[in-house]
Amino acid sequence: MTPTSHFSHSPAASVLEAKAPAFSTSEAEEIAQRVFGIVASVHPLDSERDQNFRLCADDGPDWVLKIANPAEDPAVLDFQTEAMLHIARVDPDLAVPHVKTTLDGNHSHSVEGPDGRRFITRVLSFLPGALLNDAAASPALRRDVGAAAARVARALRGFFHPVARHELLWDIMQASRLRERIHHIEDLTRRRVIENFLDHFDVEVLPQLRGLRAQVIHNDVSAKNTLVDGERVTGTIDFGDLIHAPLVCDLAVPISELILETDDPTSSAAEITAGYHAVTALSDDELRLVFDIVRARCAIAITIASWRVSDHPENSEYIMDGEGKFWELLQYFQEAGQDLVHARIRRACAGARSWFVPATRSATLDAEEEDLQPLVERRLRRLGPGLELSYDRPLHVARAEGVWLIDAAGRAFLDAYNNVPHVGHCHPTVVDALAQQAATLSTNTRYFYDSLLEYSDRLIATMPGDLSVCMFVCSGSEANDLAWRLAKAHTGNAGAITIESAYHGTTDAVFELSPAEHGKGRPIAEHVATVPAPDGYRGQFRRDDPQYADRYASCLDDAIESLGNRGFAPAAFYLDLILSSSGILVPPPGYLPAAFEKVRSAGGLCVADEVQSGFGRTGDHFWGFEAHGVVPDIVTLGKPIGNGYSMAAVVTTPAIVRSLIDQSEFFSTTGGNPVACKVGLAVLDVIEQEELQANASRVGALLRSRLSSLADKHTLIGDVRGAGLFIGVDLVRDRATREPATAEAGAVVNWMRDAGVLIGIDGPNANVLKIRPPLVFDETHAEQLTDALDGALRTI
Ligand SMILES: Cc1ncc(COP(=O)(O)O)c(C=O)c1O
Repeated sequence: MTPTSHFSHSPAASVLEAKAPAFSTSEAEEIAQRVFGIVASVHPLDSERDQNFRLCADDGPDWVLKIANPAEDPAVLDFQTEAMLHIARVDPDLAVPHVKTTLDGNHSHSVEGPDGRRFITRVLSFLPGALLNDAAASPALRRDVGAAAARVARALRGFFHPVARHELLWDIMQASRLRERIHHIEDLTRRRVIENFLDHFDVEVLPQLRGLRAQVIHNDVSAKNTLVDGERVTGTIDFGDLIHAPLVCDLAVPISELILETDDPTSSAAEITAGYHAVTALSDDELRLVFDIVRARCAIAITIASWRVSDHPENSEYIMDGEGKFWELLQYFQEAGQDLVHARIRRACAGARSWFVPATRSATLDAEEEDLQPLVERRLRRLGPGLELSYDRPLHVARAEGVWLIDAAGRAFLDAYNNVPHVGHCHPTVVDALAQQAATLSTNTRYFYDSLLEYSDRLIATMPGDLSVCMFVCSGSEANDLAWRLAKAHTGNAGAITIESAYHGTTDAVFELSPAEHGKGRPIAEHVATVPAPDGYRGQFRRDDPQYADRYASCLDDAIESLGNRGFAPAAFYLDLILSSSGILVPPPGYLPAAFEKVRSAGGLCVADEVQSGFGRTGDHFWGFEAHGVVPDIVTLGKPIGNGYSMAAVVTTPAIVRSLIDQSEFFSTTGGNPVACKVGLAVLDVIEQEELQANASRVGALLRSRLSSLADKHTLIGDVRGAGLFIGVDLVRDRATREPATAEAGAVVNWMRDAGVLIGIDGPNANVLKIRPPLVFDETHAEQLTDALDGALRTI
């Protein structure tokens, strides 16, 4: 129903103008008893436009007698009453006021007031609890406020009423009508800000809001209408601003009221939204508009406050105090910008959906879990014996979201192991980019398409020096294989130097450079020389030796000499920038410059394998090599580059590419295809917009410090190391001898898997816990992981 009457004479406005009812407590007591049959002592409650009394009955629950403002449209009151009755029918346990019937079976009753006017009275159940107004909201409580708004909206989903779209000053969809009151804002600069916002709202926002799903919403989930107990919302009251509007508008009030005085208002807004999203998933279009609906709410509050001050100058201090907060918030959002707010919200919402329940360790877990033995056998027959499954009790996964892997039974496991879904499993931006491009064009690099150049430019912009040419392939192994061809072609040499416990991939050439996977007695190839990993914890040279980085670098001299003795000069030295298969080692400062210098002096190239360490994972830098003040000759990229889409790249110098192309051709049929380029661009966008590198730095530091604290009580922890969100926990049987606790590491990882937290194991002794989650891992996930590890170490 569209409002028809002129706004300034509308009933909605006159409710604020008309004098509130003024019944005495004894009159209220009489009404409660005569009309509703409640014998109770009566205590006045605060109300802006109505009159409310708490009824403390001698024998039974308390009630609230509501005497409505006489200017309130009876149809609107009926709308509110019917809404509460609807909720009581569809979700009787939801903590909202329930309507009491009068002695003659109605839901309201009209009484004559002391001034001769008639007033509609209703009695609602009284909800106990403290008002959120009086409590400091924690992140958990903010999430629950969002969830509470969503629960009320869910209960109202099937409800309608003829005046559901009545005139309401606080309805965001009617924000444009504020123009009629805008002259009450005396400060001309501020007035212009609101006018400009309304112009933007009418042209840009309103058409989008009109296209969203709409229903009756509470529209006032504010601090004064929310009851809490500790970190939980225990009730939502006051259906006085109920309106039919886009669902997402319900977030405007809690966000605009609850975030300003917090340390990080954007994150607080994201927490409230994520709480909502956990109950009712919001689409990306809805999430993007949160920014503007909160601004609209501020504009409404500011304009109404200015108008009311002009009518009630005696209350100006009180009214304008609240108005000042809305100004601050409006300015804060203006500075933060829509992209940042949207990105934070989206990140907070990743994985917040409640269609899964976190897996927890329980005595009945064995019984609950599906018997996978038949699948394991079928897999063995069809895929051969080479493919290992993780965990003693493998996971049968069905879907994933953010940091969560969800099994076929709907249980969610905190994924602290998978680095491929770098920006979070199934990130909507990446999925959208992939789907749209797959539905538009997918071809190969023998044609022009814009995304190939756009993506190459973006990638190169992150690289230093002369690293200015991209070559696209489909896996990390292929990237390292291509790097090998480039190095041989450019140097004319055929020898390779690799770390003795390295892994660089699965092609024949690269497997030779991957002693970690050789096992089974396969000898190192004649053209390959190995050097020890620069392990300052249990290697030959240790951190307490100030020269240890140089001593490890000197091993390159031996390798070069050994190659020479076999008739080879080095074409390339391969280095993983976090030495993962060597036990999650961060190369020590000084190691790379010294090692690179030796390799180059011997005529070789330096290949930085960033397949695991790249794209901001190490926190302080986008690429692992940047921490060491060197520029490699070739950089290989894979895994996180496509967030799960098969893509990889080599970045190198024009001269090196020229050397290869002068000798042979390079082409990869699906490498760099349009879908890959769009996916790659989306991944870069998300890393930037959601500030994931900074997140890796912050959450990684927190997690390392929590894990180090665990070492105070668990002697099994010998060392905690890593960078950003790439962390190793070295388990030892004896801190003095550093004897690797291999069996214990296996037990820990399996115990944690049963507790719903997934980590891995790495290192030559299979005793280093490997923690390498998607970069959307946050503080709460870090806590959950630390608690699970604590539990495992106490139990195994
Ligand atoms: C450091 C490193 N380089 C290269 C590879 C090979 O990548 P892909 O498995 O995509 O071929 C891996 C895979 O684990 C790796 O960890």
